[in-house]
Amino acid sequence: MKSRKVGIVGAGAVGATAAYTLSMMGICHEIILFDIAEGVAQGKAIDISQASYYAPQGTIVTAANDASDLKDCDIVVITAGVPRKGDMTRADLLMINAKIMKDVVSNVQKYSPDAIIICVSNPLDVMTYVIHRLTGWKKNRIVGMAGALDGSRMAYQIQKETGYSARQTGSLVIGDHGENMIPLPQHISVGDIPLSDIISEETMEKIIARTKDGGAEIVRYLGTSGYYGPGRAIVHMVEAILNDSKTIVPSSVLLTGEYGYNDVCVGVPVVLGANGVEEIIELKLNDSIQEKFKISVDSIREGIEILEENKFFD
Ligand code: 2OP
Repeated sequence: MKSRKVGIVGAGAVGATAAYTLSMMGICHEIILFDIAEGVAQGKAIDISQASYYAPQGTIVTAANDASDLKDCDIVVITAGVPRKGDMTRADLLMINAKIMKDVVSNVQKYSPDAIIICVSNPLDVMTYVIHRLTGWKKNRIVGMAGALDGSRMAYQIQKETGYSARQTGSLVIGDHGENMIPLPQHISVGDIPLSDIISEETMEKIIARTKDGGAEIVRYLGTSGYYGPGRAIVHMVEAILNDSKTIVPSSVLLTGEYGYNDVCVGVPVVLGANGVEEIIELKLNDSIQEKFKISVDSIREGIEILEENKFFD
């Protein structure tokens, strides 16, 4: 079997946790970490390699000293980018991270031209779109990690409310990976029982609100975003692609007519397999959810518009 190699660009907390989790689960043969901060990828690669001595299966974990070391990856996970700081506007953040994407993507195109890209950088849906525009690759090869994480956050909230194991809980969150995300607990089951049969409308609303606040809640405690949840969610997607498992994972993908939208990336359920996004599943949304979906798409389009106005794509 051919070697399964995963590149991770950005060896901060999220990238490194994804690498650590991948190595503990023995999903791929090789992980290569890349970071522009000197020594970070190197130090973390050594640490994770040493931890992997106790993993059920060996994984080679190395650091790229140069972007050219990022070669022949089957999957490249992009976590690079800066978080929003005090005086930064939304436009400032967008431009800074989009420029980082430009550098990263040109290296991926050069050294891993056949890879599937999993985008994790924020604002997630806009950055996933940026990667599409910069590469011009077929849409199945670029996917944004959002629903996998927001879904695990929703399952956690359901467990807190019902007391029933989150492991038997479905998860379905669509829309943007931001304040207009759309958790859909009313669409899922717990141990094959429709959630709507076991909890009240009021509790459902509470679960929706808490899921939307899931990332911010962690920031309030830590002063920084979570990374175990994001790291594990990335690995869920990597595993589905490397194992060609045809797993349904809500993810941010380019819409070309699906759900009635074009030329925008937004979270919808997709089937992940060896070709990346193998299918986009079109849910039947009621009017109220369709309205929410439109608000979500519009908020992503505002971000894309800012990049257009600043001539980012010219
Ligand atoms: C999160 O949702 C910031 O995307 C990151 O925790």
